[in-house]
Amino acid sequence: MRIINKDFNKIIDKKILSQDVKWMRIYHPFIAEKAQPGQFIILRPLEDSERIPLTIAGTDRVAGTIEIIFQEVGVTTKQLGMLEVGQIIHNVAGPLGRAVHIEKYGRVVLITGGVGAAFIYWMAKEFKNKGNSVWAVMGARSANLLILENEMNQICDKVLIATDDGSKGTKGFVTKVLEDALASGERADLAICAGPVMMMKNVAAITKKYNIKTIASLNPIMVDGTGMCGGCRVTVGEKVMFACVDGPDFDAHQVDFDELLRRTGFYKKHEQCSLERYMKTASSKDFSSTTKV
Ligand SMILES: Cc1cc2nc3c(=O)[nH]c(=O)nc-3n(C[C@H](O)[C@H](O)[C@H](O)COP(=O)(O)OP(=O)(O)OC[C@H]3O[C@@H](n4cnc5c(N)ncnc54)[C@H](O)[C@@H]3O)c2cc1C
Ligand code: FES
Repeated sequence: MRIINKDFNKIIDKKILSQDVKWMRIYHPFIAEKAQPGQFIILRPLEDSERIPLTIAGTDRVAGTIEIIFQEVGVTTKQLGMLEVGQIIHNVAGPLGRAVHIEKYGRVVLITGGVGAAFIYWMAKEFKNKGNSVWAVMGARSANLLILENEMNQICDKVLIATDDGSKGTKGFVTKVLEDALASGERADLAICAGPVMMMKNVAAITKKYNIKTIASLNPIMVDGTGMCGGCRVTVGEKVMFACVDGPDFDAHQVDFDELLRRTGFYKKHEQCSLERYMKTASSKDFSSTTKV
């Protein structure tokens, strides 16, 4: 029997990467021992929090830690962001989902928008370690919202940036940068995209024209993360799949992105209401249920 000590789920380190995006290292040797790139955890920051899925952005098996990178978009991610080094995340389950298949393809192009870079950061390292040439095409609304640019520059053979407002790199979307590169004769043997659903849909349309095998790292709404609730249902190649157990990575040319867009937006109004309620009460919220060293 494995002993779970009192330091499990403790936040060991924390950094702010950009406005609203935080990085944390969490002590959890069981997850650190098993996790592979592409897998995720489901956590609850506080006892009364909702469960949210977050990609495992790296592990240190010796130290027994895992890394996460998350954007504060709603109540639960804000609750997580308020926890400090030394505090305990109420519970953490994982590793969940299937790992991405890492092999030598030749040139692997990773296309990300916003916090999507968090989904592919660990994969980028592993594809590079397998001898691939790794390119990243990274986008954000503005330069100050770009995350992991330095880290990706250290791993990748080439990093291309696009910002909506032109404050860094090409003005426009990552899809334009990708399409320009492919049109100029650059090749890609595998493409992986992660980020907003509309971006992934458009990436898939471009890579299909060039006949490039493409994986989309999907981020549907998840509840249990074990294939029981149906919350993360997606249609891939006309088959019903559950992203938590069959994914989250799927053949992008087979994904029904229009259905995913509809399903992802389903709770938007409720999420907005609960964020407004939370922001009103956040200053008086009691975080004493977590342990501080
Ligand atoms: C397998 C998987 C891995 C993920 N990994 C990461 C990660 O590494 N880093 C990270 O920042 N986020 C990640 N996400 C998304 C993250 O789970 C959501 O942002 C989080 O659940 C939002 O919870 P909330 O209560 O803070 O906000 P909510 O109140 O639930 O939502 C606030 C706003 O965010 C939008 N939103 C909610 N859930 C998602 C979602 N799944 N995808 C896109 N938009 C969403 C809502 O439409 C709403 O506008 C991942 C999602 C999945 C399914
Ligand atoms: S999250 Fe419930 S089935 Fe996938």
